Amino acid sequence: MKLGYDEAGGGRVLLLVHGFPVDRRIWVHQVSGLSDLRRVVAVDLRGRGKSPAPTEGGWSMNTHADDLAETIESLGVDQVDLGGISMGGYVAFAFVRRYPMLVRSLILVSTRAAGDPPEYKTGRVTTAERARNFGTRALAGSMLPNLLAEGASQQVHDEVLAMFDAIPGATSAEDSLAMKDRPDSTTLLPSIAVPTLVIEGAGEQLLPAGTARDMAEAIPGARLVSIPQAGHFVPVENPDGLNGAIRGFL
Ligand code: MLT
Repeated sequence: MKLGYDEAGGGRVLLLVHGFPVDRRIWVHQVSGLSDLRRVVAVDLRGRGKSPAPTEGGWSMNTHADDLAETIESLGVDQVDLGGISMGGYVAFAFVRRYPMLVRSLILVSTRAAGDPPEYKTGRVTTAERARNFGTRALAGSMLPNLLAEGASQQVHDEVLAMFDAIPGATSAEDSLAMKDRPDSTTLLPSIAVPTLVIEGAGEQLLPAGTARDMAEAIPGARLVSIPQAGHFVPVENPDGLNGAIRGFL
């Protein structure tokens, strides 16, 4: 499946993959702010925004990775700098496993290598049922307080809620189940052989403390940057801070 995307700039491709339960617009400030440096391409994963929904339900992180590979082929390039936030990071791990030769460098934002512990998996099923029955917006009450740092502006809240509103409940349900079943990628980390940037928001509340540091230490030569005034959704909470870190890395 070839994915829809927003793009700006030219030259080498920086491919950006969003998290759950949002869409390509989480990267809006990176598409505009880094276009002097790269051809920045922010995709919608299947089932939302500019991308088609599959006719049969059910997908995995590998399915998302395969969609990325097909999309990259259609862009006419051999390699990309690959950035993923949160669930987009889980997709990036699947992609590195399946298509290592297509990755020039890796940017991991607000994500983790570990799979879901058993008690977490039950919550994924509940989340999927809620999304399917009541829509993605019904997830906002429990999720939003953990996604944004304390003091996030009303504008950032509104931007994130607009994305929640746009994601079909069935899509969020499939993503939740796909995250439940994703493999643990911890053993992949020492074999990552491309330059890697690990980003965490200094006000991260969703991931356990030390997640980004441990991941950066396990990836040979990885660089770790903590972005102030940001929680989990760094790209919209502190776009200038993130863009500066990515610019320095690239
Ligand atoms: C995300 O931001 O993509 C999700 O919160 C990740 C997760 O639930 O594991």
